[in-house]
Amino acid sequence: MPETMTVDYDGLIPNNVGLNDDPRVKKALETWHPGYIDWWKTMGPEGFQESLVYLRTAIGVDPEGWAKFGFVRMPEYRWGILLAPAIAGRTIPFGAHKGEPVWQEVPGEYRAMLRRLIVIQGDTEPASVEQQRHLGATAPSLYDLRNLFQVNVEEGRHLWAMVYLLHKYFGRDGREEADDLLRRRSGDRDTPRMLGAFNEATPDWLSFFMFTFFTDRDGKMQLAALAQSGFDPLSRTCRFMLTEEAHHMFVGDSGISRTIQRTCEAMRAAGIADPSDIVRVRARGVIDLPTIQKKLNLHFSLTLDLFGNEISTNAANAFNAGLKGRYREDKLTDDHQLLNDTYPVLRPVAGEIRTELVPALSALNMRLRDDYVADCASGVRRWNALVEKLGISFRFTLPHVAFNRRIGEFAAIHADPEGNVLDAATWQARRGAWLPDAADGDFIASLMRPESAPGKYAAWIAPPRAGIDNQPGDFEYVRVER
Ligand SMILES: [Fe+2]
Ligand SMILES: [Fe+2]
Repeated sequence: MPETMTVDYDGLIPNNVGLNDDPRVKKALETWHPGYIDWWKTMGPEGFQESLVYLRTAIGVDPEGWAKFGFVRMPEYRWGILLAPAIAGRTIPFGAHKGEPVWQEVPGEYRAMLRRLIVIQGDTEPASVEQQRHLGATAPSLYDLRNLFQVNVEEGRHLWAMVYLLHKYFGRDGREEADDLLRRRSGDRDTPRMLGAFNEATPDWLSFFMFTFFTDRDGKMQLAALAQSGFDPLSRTCRFMLTEEAHHMFVGDSGISRTIQRTCEAMRAAGIADPSDIVRVRARGVIDLPTIQKKLNLHFSLTLDLFGNEISTNAANAFNAGLKGRYREDKLTDDHQLLNDTYPVLRPVAGEIRTELVPALSALNMRLRDDYVADCASGVRRWNALVEKLGISFRFTLPHVAFNRRIGEFAAIHADPEGNVLDAATWQARRGAWLPDAADGDFIASLMRPESAPGKYAAWIAPPRAGIDNQPGDFEYVRVER
């Protein structure tokens, strides 16, 4: 099948996978398309389906100039299927098949495992759109509103990316899985999304920024591991998705920074030196730093659960099979098979948390989580540098990985953010000091009033340093027509 760097933009579904020469898959996707648009209109951003939004659309896969910007009504966004260019002579980089040519078709013995990996990744994409669908009503600016919608349409495209693989490579059961991806609903009691963090509410914009910082970053880690896959179409899809994902984390990182900046500025202006003087800080109409820390604690711990059990046979099998690698597998210098290696895993033993060496193959989830934590820590360092620069004495920290967990080694115990094991009564008595409670939520909700004048920002958040696509400060990123 011809595949090029250029994208066919003429048909219903923009693509660089030669869809016109593949009538079966083209038909299948065109049949899936109306259900997708229906899902977008009912479960996508509420209240802005008719608005013109200044969006980035992927029009190629060349790292230089792969996107164009322009005003689009979201239901008319050109969701396309884009694979990063094939790498000639690529071989399976790890596992039992290491060194063999990559697969262009699904290896029969791994079909079920591969389908499951694709479906789990695919399920997260529409889930986050559903979680964020009410946020448009309280956007702190048109700039932020546009960024929300950019993230949303790209998550929609990521769903397309996974649905393409299902239709193209998995026949009838692929089609059924693709339909189910539109059927499940975030937070639904009967048909929830597959993973816990994708069924949580995103009630306010600080949650949205935390979600894009922490939970989209899990997405980055998973995509990076899948981009190493020996199943080449999956690898190429994920490589291109990572290009878009970078903006999602920028939205989170800069959103949190701007929130912190405004709080510190308001504290200084009011002569408040003590960050724990929550009443006075809140009276300035900004979110106090300890509450931002609580939100961080919540979203970090929820996201850690997405990495699954620290010790996992599934993860070992997916690695052995050559389907899912490690973060930056291609940069690692070991034998890429790990048959004789060990890896340190944290686990609770007799009331305390200890490190144990386990076979490296079974600890791959733990390893990916460690890489993730290191990636998160760089954001926290930036926020602390900002706080220091603004002359406030406060430090953000990532809580211990044992804190507030529901999956894995720590699900059965309670621990404080420093990693001290607690009994259930102590945990219950003190959890409000570490996690947002109803009063914190009510306070944040009270600040969530929309600001829709071009160039204006809600009082709790600082303006960004630069516009999107170098647009000026008063650019009207969203033309609201309801
Ligand atoms: Fe995504
Ligand atoms: Fe994302």
